Amino acid sequence: MIKVLFVCLGNICRSPMADGVFQNLVNEAGLGDEIMVDSAGTASYHVGERAHQGTRDILNKHDIPYDGRARQLAQRDLNDYDYVLAMDASNLRNIRHYVTDNTHAEVRLFLSYANDAHKTNVEEVPDPYYDDRFDYVYDLVTTGSKALLAHIRKEHGL
Ligand code: 4NP
Repeated sequence: MIKVLFVCLGNICRSPMADGVFQNLVNEAGLGDEIMVDSAGTASYHVGERAHQGTRDILNKHDIPYDGRARQLAQRDLNDYDYVLAMDASNLRNIRHYVTDNTHAEVRLFLSYANDAHKTNVEEVPDPYYDDRFDYVYDLVTTGSKALLAHIRKEHGL
């Protein structure tokens, strides 16, 4: 089982969106038994809450189910997951506080796979919590998720 964790600040806007979009792509590809997906926030502000209304609306609009609740990133996630993927550079710095010599996960910016595949030049997913650009973020997250799935399929022969 390949395990993927998306990480943002609050785990209510960007990482739940990526969680839902990527899970949907995995299901469509018939890889639901091979790839497990979750999301977390580096901060604890919203632990236990449903995703932001803007994220729920855009996922609904695209018929993507999501009923996750916010949780905070934990030390063990760095060993439980194979990929721990940050939405922006600030999240990446925060995740790296948990990295040790024994860390199992590949820790990277989520969009780095799409950057490597020349699908977008945008390196970070901006936070729609402050500007409400949920449509733009959805498009970026979809581009990033497709590139990530292509990478994982190639890397793991799926
Ligand atoms: P997210 O957005 O990291 O994409 O979930 C945010 C959600 C909440 C806050 C900041 C960003 N906040 O400050 O409460």
